[in-house]
Amino acid sequence: MDDDLAQEDFRHALAHWVSGVVAVSTEVEGLAHATTVSSFASVSMSPPLILICLQSRSRLLTLIESRGLFAVSLLSERQADVSKTFSGRDRPVDVGFGEVPIVRLPSGLPAVADASAHLDCVLHDQSVQGDHHICIGRVTGVMSAPDGGPLVYFKRAYRSLLL
Ligand SMILES: Cc1cc2nc3c(=O)[nH]c(=O)nc-3n(C[C@H](O)[C@H](O)[C@H](O)COP(=O)(O)O)c2cc1C
Repeated sequence: MDDDLAQEDFRHALAHWVSGVVAVSTEVEGLAHATTVSSFASVSMSPPLILICLQSRSRLLTLIESRGLFAVSLLSERQADVSKTFSGRDRPVDVGFGEVPIVRLPSGLPAVADASAHLDCVLHDQSVQGDHHICIGRVTGVMSAPDGGPLVYFKRAYRSLLL
C-alpha cells in the first residue's frame, strides 16, 4: 500500500463497489477446502477464461497450486451463511465443507450444492500483484440453475436484488 494512501480510506472507497459472491473450492488428497471470494470476473470467451484474486497467504491458493484445478460456485441469495462459513480464517483447514452440502462436478471436485451456477476450472495462469495472486481459470464445464437471485455484497453487508 502506498504510504500516502491509508488502507482504511482504500477499503472505504472499494466498499462502494457492488459484487456477487462465489465460493472457490478444490480438493487435494481427500482434503476439500473452500474460500469466499468476491474478486471474480469473466476474462475471455474463446478460450473461456475467468479470474479470481487470492491473498498470497490464502490456504486455498496453496491447494489450487498443488491440484491445478478449482471449482467456482456462484452463490445464491439464500447462501449468505455459506459465504460466512468459508470466510473465517480461524476455520481449521481439515474440516472440509463442514455442514455445507456438497455437489460433485464432472471433474470430481466438490462445490456448493444449490448454488446458482458452477464452473469447473483448470488453473491456466497466475501472476503475483501486490499481496494477491491473480489466478486465471480455463473453464472446462458449466452448470446453471434455472432461476434464483444472486448473493450480493455491498458496503460490507449481504444483500439480494429485487428481481
Ligand atoms: C464477501 C467476501 C469476499 C471476499 N473476497 C475475497 C477475495 O476476493 N479474495 C481473497 O483472497 N479473500 C476474500 N475474502 C476473504 C476470504 O474469504 C478469507 O480470508 C478466508 O478466510 C481465506 O481462507 P483461506 O486462507 O482458507 O483461503 C472475502 C471475504 C468475504 C466475506
